[in-house]
Amino acid sequence: MCHRADVGMWRALRRRREWAFFGVLVKASRGLAAAWWVLLVLRGAMPALLAIATGVLVAAVRGGERLTAPLTFVGIVFVLFQVLTPLQQAVGAVLGARTAQWLHDRLMVGAVAPSGMGHLESPELADDLSMARDFDLGMTGPPLVLGMGFIASGLVQLVAGVLSALVLVAFAWWAPLVLLLAWGSTHWLLRESGVWRDRNTPEVRAAQRQAGYAYTLATDPPAAKELRLFGLGDWVVDRFTESRTRLFDLQYQATRLRERPLAGALLLVLSGNALVFWALADAVADGRLGLGAATTYLQTAVGVSAVAFGGLSWALDGAAAPAVAVLRLPSAMAEAGALAPRPPAATRRTSTGVLDVAAMPAREVRFRDVTFGYDTSSRPVLDHFDLTIPAGSSMAIVGVNGAGKTTLAKLLCRLYDPQEGALEVDGVDIRDLDVDAYRCRVTAVFQDFVRYELALRDNVAPLGAPDTAVRAALAAAGATAVTDLDTVLARGYDHGSELSGGQWQRVALARALAAVQQGAGLVLLDEPTAQLDVRGEAEIFQRILEATRHVTTVLISHRFSTVRQVDRICVLEHGQVVELGSHEELMARGGRYRTMFELQASRFAEVDEQGQEVAYDSLD
Ligand SMILES: Nc1ncnc2c1ncn2[C@@H]1O[C@H](COP(=O)(O)OP(=O)(O)OP(=O)(O)O)[C@@H](O)[C@H]1O
Ligand SMILES: [Mg+2]
Repeated sequence: MCHRADVGMWRALRRRREWAFFGVLVKASRGLAAAWWVLLVLRGAMPALLAIATGVLVAAVRGGERLTAPLTFVGIVFVLFQVLTPLQQAVGAVLGARTAQWLHDRLMVGAVAPSGMGHLESPELADDLSMARDFDLGMTGPPLVLGMGFIASGLVQLVAGVLSALVLVAFAWWAPLVLLLAWGSTHWLLRESGVWRDRNTPEVRAAQRQAGYAYTLATDPPAAKELRLFGLGDWVVDRFTESRTRLFDLQYQATRLRERPLAGALLLVLSGNALVFWALADAVADGRLGLGAATTYLQTAVGVSAVAFGGLSWALDGAAAPAVAVLRLPSAMAEAGALAPRPPAATRRTSTGVLDVAAMPAREVRFRDVTFGYDTSSRPVLDHFDLTIPAGSSMAIVGVNGAGKTTLAKLLCRLYDPQEGALEVDGVDIRDLDVDAYRCRVTAVFQDFVRYELALRDNVAPLGAPDTAVRAALAAAGATAVTDLDTVLARGYDHGSELSGGQWQRVALARALAAVQQGAGLVLLDEPTAQLDVRGEAEIFQRILEATRHVTTVLISHRFSTVRQVDRICVLEHGQVVELGSHEELMARGGRYRTMFELQASRFAEVDEQGQEVAYDSLD
């Protein structure tokens, strides 16, 4: 029975967040964690040791003995008392910094590791992710480098109280029990009402996330334009204030002192202390207890009170919750971001010959009856979608906003896997290919391409390329004059510079063209010229077609002047192909494509005429 209760307690202890947090300290640095604990226990032992030392000194004075040894004892304990605290604080600060770094590393690796990207979009993981990411920003508690000091002082008090109680055993076995019980009740009460333990509830996390979002909107440059233009400043401040007030309310409710238990705890403390101090006084009066021993016991009886406040640390709680989130996130993210497992070997489509990924696609890229949706409970974005793109040709995808064009490009990059059907390259299901080897064959300019805060050279070839190749790619993308290769493309860096939207787009195009030079065989261009001026667009698109003539190109665009230049055009609607053919074929067919083309052509003709007029005017 007893054994089973021990096992149960052990399990309950191991399940606690605090336990996990102390485990993280050991993982971050075994040596520092050991030193931190040793120093902590020594600090906790000091009050009891000082009580014993002063007791010994008083006894020696009273007995008229030599004082050298007792004074040395008091001196050593006193000096240790002074020295141990700053020493332990310094070790704690370094350990805190290491632990924060360990947690950040683990989170970053966990976020980057999955082959897919579903984990970063999963609503179930969003709260944990934001708590783990915001950890150490000082939003819910002090950064760990400072927090370790608060955590340590709480634990030191707990140790000090327990060790003082142990000394009291020498007076009477029941005395420490009575005092521990009395101060233990206060400890429990303070812990229940003094520490905000529910900071990990969905309500708290939602309020934190909203406050964080409002704060970012107010302080980051990207939102500054619209906040001012649309007069949203007050709205942002109100939203921030509202969520912070909600947080304070929740904290107040959770940490409010409960009156009745408080009265009960006070009664216990008063009667417990009265009993022990009466017994001590009685023993002194009877002469059973000498003055030295009485000095020690009186001090330690007072010292037990540290139990009430010891271990009580909001900092521990604030650090343990995100630490636990970081501990559980990597496996949750690995699962949510995993790509579909390979189909069973029996049903796997394999080519007849040896797979040469480095030459793919050599024949075709094919969507075979593909059904895909981000949320399987709603209508799929692609619905039994069938499309063959011959290798070495260009294919444009057109369709209204939300038709699924970008989704199609993401599937081609194998960022997600379809729920039904397959994407095949030269007859091979891409799930049968090594994902990294396959992705080496693909390059893309995404609609929301990344603007790396790196030098122009690294923006074009993030993994490195000879300068001649970088310059050739920039030339093909019409970005030669943007800036020199060493300039960092962000303000806030030494000689950093910011580019215009269209200039950035040219740089992103150059990045894809550099990848083509380095061997990519499938190029995805999602609205690659949306931000280019009309003349630049026609010229650059011609050059892109030239640079990608030997590879397979998929162009997604709403600009029919560029779309018409490719070999084949696919009109996407309701997740399916509704028209497919060359520009001439689709125009002759007189269907959806022709309607869209003529609508845009007539509007562009007007713009062009006006543009011409402006040009002539400026020549005069
Ligand atoms: N990450 C995502 N999670 C959930 N749904 C998404 C996600 N991305 C897109 N969707 C949804 O999938 C549908 C297709 O989106 P997609 O971005 O492919 O459209 P699109 O054809 O590229 O549109 P646009 O012309 O506006 O770029 C839309 O209804 C969109 O709301
Ligand atoms: Mg899109």
